[in-house]
Amino acid sequence: MALYLGIDVGTSGTKAVVMDGTGTVVASASVEYPLYTPRNGWAEQDPDDWRRAAGAASRQALAGVDASKVAAVGLTGQMHSSVFLDADGNPLCRAMLWCDQRTAEECADIRSAVGGARLIELTANPALTGFTAPKILWLRKNMPDVYAKVRKVLLPKDYIRYRLTGEFATDVSDAGGTGLFNVAKRAWEPEVFEKLGIPAGWLAKVYESPEVTGVVSDAAAELTGIPAGTPVVAGAGDNAAAAVGTGVARDGRAFVTVGTSGVVFAHTSRMILDPAGRAHTFCSAVPGEWHVMGVTLAAGLSLQWFRRNFAPGLSYARLDELAAASPVGANRLLFAPYLNGERAPWLDPDCRGAFVGLSASHTLGDLVRAVMEGVTFSLRDCLDIMLGMGAPIDEIAAAGGGGGSAFWRGMIADVFGRAVTTAQTQDGPALGAAILAAVGSGAFASVPEACDALIARGEPVQPNGAASEEYARAHAVYRKIYPALKSIYADSRSLRRESQANHRVNPHESA
Ligand code: XUL
Repeated sequence: MALYLGIDVGTSGTKAVVMDGTGTVVASASVEYPLYTPRNGWAEQDPDDWRRAAGAASRQALAGVDASKVAAVGLTGQMHSSVFLDADGNPLCRAMLWCDQRTAEECADIRSAVGGARLIELTANPALTGFTAPKILWLRKNMPDVYAKVRKVLLPKDYIRYRLTGEFATDVSDAGGTGLFNVAKRAWEPEVFEKLGIPAGWLAKVYESPEVTGVVSDAAAELTGIPAGTPVVAGAGDNAAAAVGTGVARDGRAFVTVGTSGVVFAHTSRMILDPAGRAHTFCSAVPGEWHVMGVTLAAGLSLQWFRRNFAPGLSYARLDELAAASPVGANRLLFAPYLNGERAPWLDPDCRGAFVGLSASHTLGDLVRAVMEGVTFSLRDCLDIMLGMGAPIDEIAAAGGGGGSAFWRGMIADVFGRAVTTAQTQDGPALGAAILAAVGSGAFASVPEACDALIARGEPVQPNGAASEEYARAHAVYRKIYPALKSIYADSRSLRRESQANHRVNPHESA
């Protein structure tokens, strides 16, 4: 039976999964790497850590199977993060990541060069600090010597593709996250390149997700254990690939994920967008279709942060137990999860987190519950924006990190007031990439057909009506936190002392 390899270049590590023709993951391996935060709000990784990790994870995953049966490889990874290459194809500096917030000024520059509304009209999205275009402008302004040597700008999975095949290629879903791509036309947008003064030739050739972009070279075969000549399909950004891995490839299907960031994602065969730019519209991994998604930046990250600082040594299962012992509403304690600034619904890189309503009677369980509820309220804000755009949403699956916690899944169902099913896999993006490889190698006629054949649907968790009502009341109060604190966030910026130390933090564990 043919095998398909999916490689996911994530923020905490790179994962390789080997899928057989029935959709079963027969082998997998992960290799982690550090994330560097040289200053407050900055987030960087070394592209060569990704390269080494992709090689090692592939080699380990393939060790237990007959690698000669691998019919195709699919790639996925963190979106937006930028790899700057010189004329010899070598990285010039560390990649700036999707969660890096240093480019607020460059986003303002983009809005004035292109026009805020015109940018959304052309690229379907506003200028966001995480996106690639403002990172290019930041490099031009702040590291002109490095900028002068740039010849290519690649996304993380596309850097791995370059190392595997020697080709500069990307896919439509990831291209949309650069801020330089016309999502409606599925092509790079010349007007934006011209107005920003970015050479269009720096970006890679664009393919639909299941299309073959090249084959594994002899040198890469040595390092990865993937047979030379194996086709590599375009693949997709991690959210678009996770959609494939959870069977979200038709109208009506949606997923919610609590990874480092939290995402509510819905497939749509019709191009729709939020004129205010609070939810993203990107091309889907299903050729010719789209998806919309709302992103809350610190989802699992909020719980991870809380655990690291206030409950070290306690497992996530224990945190679930403590939170479950606190009532709905966490004894009137609210948490705003804006630890890294926020995209949906506020589009504000400078806002920050807050506990509101702390009293001397609150317990650790109340605090943990408030963190989970705050993240879930932010996901509900994403859902509401998407429903307001007319996103077709009938069925929601919970996937990734927090989606694996029955307690958190139940809370999502209650806060959303909708049934939430359990995704059958925690390998979403890597599995999705493997499925795209299967489609690209001709094993299935289309992505939805492959999803129907390979992805089992989980049992729905029904919302508890009484809890939903209480959450709705708490959510209405939660919605007032950001507007009330907005000016305080702005004032507190003058108090901030930048740490210049080059700390090395542990890779994100998923919560
Ligand atoms: C999506 C986004 C994140 C990253 C995480 O816009 O920034 O979900 O893709 O890897």
